[in-house]
Parts: sequence; C-alpha cells; structure tokens
Amino acid sequence: MERIEITGGRTLAGRVRPACAKNSVLPLLAATLLCREPCTLCGVPDLADVQTSLQLLASVGAAVERRGPDLCTAPRPVRGLVPDPLAAAMRASVFYLAPLLLRAGRVELPLPGGCRLGPRPIDIHLDGLAAMGATVRTLPDRVVVQRRGALHAVDYTLRLPSVGATLTLLMAAACARGFTTLRGAACEPEIADVAAFLNAAGARIAGAGTPVLTIRGVGGLLPGGARHTPLPDRIAAATYAAAVAAAGGQVTVEGCRPAYLGAFLQFLRRAGCRVEAGQDGFTVARDPDRPLQGGVDLRTGAWPGFATDTAPLAAAVLLGAEGASRIHDALFQNRFACAAGFAAMGARVRARGRDLWLAGSDRLQGTLVTAPDLRGGAALVIAGLFAEGSSTVLDPGHIRRGYADLPGELRQLGAACRPAPARAPKAVQYG
Ligand code: UD1
Repeated sequence: MERIEITGGRTLAGRVRPACAKNSVLPLLAATLLCREPCTLCGVPDLADVQTSLQLLASVGAAVERRGPDLCTAPRPVRGLVPDPLAAAMRASVFYLAPLLLRAGRVELPLPGGCRLGPRPIDIHLDGLAAMGATVRTLPDRVVVQRRGALHAVDYTLRLPSVGATLTLLMAAACARGFTTLRGAACEPEIADVAAFLNAAGARIAGAGTPVLTIRGVGGLLPGGARHTPLPDRIAAATYAAAVAAAGGQVTVEGCRPAYLGAFLQFLRRAGCRVEAGQDGFTVARDPDRPLQGGVDLRTGAWPGFATDTAPLAAAVLLGAEGASRIHDALFQNRFACAAGFAAMGARVRARGRDLWLAGSDRLQGTLVTAPDLRGGAALVIAGLFAEGSSTVLDPGHIRRGYADLPGELRQLGAACRPAPARAPKAVQYG
C-alpha cells in the first residue's frame, strides 16, 4: 500500500497547471472505438484510471499506444466483453457500453466499480439504449446489451442529468440512424469536450453544454478520426486552490478557465481568500495568520452548481475556518467517508448520510489516516498540509486514479509532501 507523508505548516507559492481532465479523458478513450480512422488524444496524464482504460481497450482487441504524452488509437475489430476486474476497477468502464455495442453488436459489462460513494445505478444508460432499440438483459452482476441492425433515433428525456448517461446516449445517438433529441442532459464542460471530439470525427451534435442535445446520427461508425486535446481538469484545479486556502500562501493555476470552477472559487472568496480570475487561469491567495470564515451551508449540484467532487476539498478548507458549517451532497449518499480521517486528526466533524457538519476553528494534529476514495483522499492530504506535525495518508490506490502525482505537484508549490513506497510487512519470528 502506498503512503503519502506530509509535514504540515508550510505555506504554498508558485504556479501549477492542471493536466487534462480525467472525466474527459476516460470517456474520450472509449469514444475512440466509434471512429473508423485513427485518433490521437494529446497530453493525457498517466492516471491509474487511464492505465485501467488502456488495459480494457487492449482486452477487447483495440489498438492503442502511448507516444510520449499522447495516446494514439487505430481502428480494429473488437470483442464486446469487458473482463470483470477491469469493470470493477473504475466507474468509467460504463463508458464502454455504447461503443462496444455499436462496434461489436453485443456487449457484456460486469457492473462497474469505482469510488464507493453509495449506490451508483446505471438504469438511465440502459433505459436510453433500450429506447434506441437495444435489447437489455440485467443479471445480478452484469448487463448484456445487444442490437439487431443500427440503433434508431429517439426523443428521450433523462430522468436526472447524469453525466455518464448523457455521454452514453450521446455516443449511441451519434451513430444511430436519424435525428435524436436528448432532454434533461448533463451540462458539465466534459460533455461539450466529448461532443467536440465526436464532431471532429464526423458526428453531428448540437447543443452540447445545454440540457437539450440534438444529434443527427450517421447510421454507423463515425467516418473519421480526430486529434483532440482534452480540456483541463477543473477538479484538480480546485484541489490546488483548496490546498493554498488551507495552507496559506499564493498560487496561480494556469491553463484553466476560472469559469470551469466558478462555484468553488466563489466559495473560497466568501471564506476570505483573495481570488483573481484571468482569461486562462486564476490566482488564489490566503494570509496564513488570518483565519478563514466558515459558517456556510453548501449544497452540491449538477453543473454549474457546486461540484460534488469538490465537496470533500471544501470540507478540508472549512475545518479550520471560524464558524460551524454544513455541506450537503445532493448526488451521492456516501461522499464524506473522509470525515473519519478528519476526526482522527482532531477535527470536530460529523458525517451522516449526505450531510457533513463541521464545528470549525479546529486545530488539527497530524496522524495516520486512510484515503477512503479519490477526492476524500485528496482532502485528507490537504488537511495534512494544515495540520501540525506529520501526517501519513495510506492510499490503497485511490488518489493515483485521478492525480498522476499529487505529492509532487504540492511539493513544487513548497509543501513538505512526498509519496513513500509500501512498507514491507515486518518479519515475525517465532520460537
Ligand atoms: C461523473 C464523474 C464523477 C462525478 C459525477 C457527478 C466520471 C468518470 N465521473 O460520474 O467524478 O462525481 O459525474 O459530477 O465522469 N444515476 C442514476 N442512474 C444512472 C446514472 C446516474 O441514478 O443511470 C445517479 C447517480 O447515482 C448519482 C447521480 O445520478 O446520484 C449523478 O451521477 P452521474 O452524473 O451519472 O455521475 P457519474 O457519471 O457516475
């Protein structure tokens, strides 16, 4: 098990540039299967979930290779069977449902894993595909989806604006026969990014980034390929912003439009950070000798609301802020598993269901904690920057799923933070 070791109490300074967004890269890799011509995704970070995606693509027979920072794919016939361990390793395995259905005619997908944030059904993905003419069979541990001939166009309203389901149905509609309208779609920037890639490869999608998407299907695989640079990772950008808010100092985040994380930057401003937004980046500054202002009642929501992935990061910022706060996660039932780690560091926090209560004005003491999931793990690292003394975050593989090198990036900004290899278990001698 990897560990991250942090010594708290150092302020941060410098400039950092987020890598391409995990939540764009993962569906984009799946979407390359829809293209008749080779594709290149530029500047793809070496995340654990990217490695899992490459294994998944290889396991179904797809050709993909890393050339420096880029990932290049070439069209090849594929099998519609996702191996169990790869489906279990990440939620993003669900993005292979539509592409494998379209490429192979049949897909068998073990139910996807990923962060244990509570129940994460895929009913909207399946219902939408069924509305386009696919046959869906749900077994206790997997789904099997088949089609006879091309999928047909549909006028479909999503029961809620799921990011993943919007992407599944967007990919399916791009290759279906006829004119599809998707209503109640998710509007996250990653949707428009994937739509831009699909359009570059020959799809005809309009309205991406709004709740109503219209798609003129091409009635088969997309005729071209595309060279595409995915947008920057707004959640990573929020992570650096949260780190400087908790530790103090001044950090400029480059190459990321502040509007991508508007709600989070507004939260930091209200808490007392100085936030200067530019065209293509922003600066967050915080005086470490002046406490932040808590006393807030945050509620996560779909874009452009307060992103659920940034809720644990906001919690890490609020631990030391003056005044009691509450965060409610409207999307996931178990977003605040990191509360146990905060409490171990001495924070007065209480997590129940979708709610996290924070007493505020807490002084934290570094200790040994365990990353419960990706963003909760990042939040514990941030709490470690703020805590007195040394902290160790045991990470059973979560943080590397979304950050190629979080300790290295924080170290560049002046934090005392480094990864440590797994400790070999101590040899026990008997007799
Ligand atoms: C994506 C992101 C994740 C982010 C989330 C919300 C990826 C790989 N992951 O996850 O980081 O936290 O968006 O911004 O892009 N739901 C259903 N039925 C469905 C689909 C979803 O009930 O068929 C529910 C989920 O349980 C959840 C809500 O809808 O409560 C939102 O989920 P969704 O937007 O689909 O999130 P993901 O695509 O899983």
